[in-house]
Amino acid sequence: MTRPQSRRDFIWNFSRVMGVAGAYTAMEALGLVAEAGPYAGPPEVGNMLGAGRRVVILGAGISGLVAAHELKKAGYTVTVLEARQRPGGRVWTVRGGSVLEHDHLPPQRCQFGAGQYFNAGAARIPSVHTSVLDYCRYLGVKLETHVNESGASKFVNAKLRNGQPIDHRRVVNDIRGGVSELLSKATNRGALDAELTADDKTRLLDFLSVYGALGEGKVYEGSDRSGYQLEPTVLNAGSKPREAIPMKELIADGSIARNLVFSEGLLQQATMMQPVGGMDAIPYAFAAKLRREIMYGVRVSYLGRTEQGVRVLYDNKDGTAGSIEADYCICTLPFSVLQKLDTGLSAPVKAGVNAFKYASAGKVAWESRRFWENEEHIYGGISFVDTDSNMAWYPSNDFQARDGVLIGTYNFADQAERFAAMSWDKQFSTSRASVDQIHPGKAVQLRHPVGINWMHVPYSMGAWASESENDHPSASAVDAVLEGDGPIVFAGQHLSPIGAWMEAAIRSSHYAVAQIHDRTRAN
Ligand code: ALA
Repeated sequence: MTRPQSRRDFIWNFSRVMGVAGAYTAMEALGLVAEAGPYAGPPEVGNMLGAGRRVVILGAGISGLVAAHELKKAGYTVTVLEARQRPGGRVWTVRGGSVLEHDHLPPQRCQFGAGQYFNAGAARIPSVHTSVLDYCRYLGVKLETHVNESGASKFVNAKLRNGQPIDHRRVVNDIRGGVSELLSKATNRGALDAELTADDKTRLLDFLSVYGALGEGKVYEGSDRSGYQLEPTVLNAGSKPREAIPMKELIADGSIARNLVFSEGLLQQATMMQPVGGMDAIPYAFAAKLRREIMYGVRVSYLGRTEQGVRVLYDNKDGTAGSIEADYCICTLPFSVLQKLDTGLSAPVKAGVNAFKYASAGKVAWESRRFWENEEHIYGGISFVDTDSNMAWYPSNDFQARDGVLIGTYNFADQAERFAAMSWDKQFSTSRASVDQIHPGKAVQLRHPVGINWMHVPYSMGAWASESENDHPSASAVDAVLEGDGPIVFAGQHLSPIGAWMEAAIRSSHYAVAQIHDRTRAN
């Protein structure tokens, strides 16, 4: 007997596929996420509240940049310590010349041509992420559409048409036709008489006819929504929709439905957006306003309280050491990184920090002729494949240019861990083989691969805080870190239920900024 799926299973199954993002969508669907009301903007205070107070911010990712920006506006003296030579953290656009460093495999230097890029971390912005969109407007970051779904992208699954690549439009419309036909049959046989009046039944049958493109006798015999077997040309020549794929085959593997509804989730549905030229336009726009405040190439070695405030010790790239004393600290380092640091944090806060686990995710990106556009008419969107490589994600920028960057692999959890356990060459050949399953014979055109295994990226040590059922920090751990340790408070995506999104980093950052304001007012 199969066990009925509990709420926990539902969330966990989503999170296995989509990390925190999916878990959050599932939680939202189940009504488990408290509504916080519309986004009201950053905490507003006068520009003098922070006068004479110094804040040291650890990390120039989105949460650190937002905190620095808001605190500077409120009159504080701000210093941001960033280990890398760039702002953005996991908001990182890889271009020709970018070096990808990992702690488990040799560094790679990206060989893409001029103008080619991919977003190794954050890559799409939902319309509902209003704080991100507000900052983009404020910073003048130009946005374009991010195409998250295409009727022409493919499903490759061993149980569907013997693993042949099948158009997304076929899968979605043939499932809808099949379900509509079955529900019509059940209605006509009286199976829903307890639920529906005679009028309701008529209306439901009419609805299903339209919704499912049913033909005579309420039977689904295929539809041009799924594309043509014989394409229309001139008036007196015949055309023919593709043959319908039987329901039984479309429901044979649960991943088909999960991948189909992926782009229906609140955080994945149209209209999605991306900055023109790469996601790093956002961190660089913040950084341009914080030229004097950010110190790059500075690696924090200690964080602790003093009698009056906080002390941070750090190492410079050249081997020299330095220290900063400040009234407050906002620590935005991922907890996976903070867990490895020497700190003077209180026992409950240390325990809270240690209670967080991080999730794996990875990508492999390839430069290529745009065969997916020129030969397969796929403009953006995602193809799903039942291999560890998991999907192919097409570029939304510069349609019909000669070349583009195809993300040939984007995987999560155990798939990403199995990938990360392989050499780069093996990761690349596995990714190429997977793209070849989606686009038979085309993957020979892929060149200049680069891979990212986020669990092994120094200063990130994980893709995002894990939301899988077994990894949840306890309520007391969450309370301890959200309260902070006196003048030390925390921010980052890991502290927001929004999950693996820039919106989470921003909302958490605003919370930490408000905590600093409160402490200032109390002193
Ligand atoms: N927010 C991340 C994504 O959409 C996890 O892929």
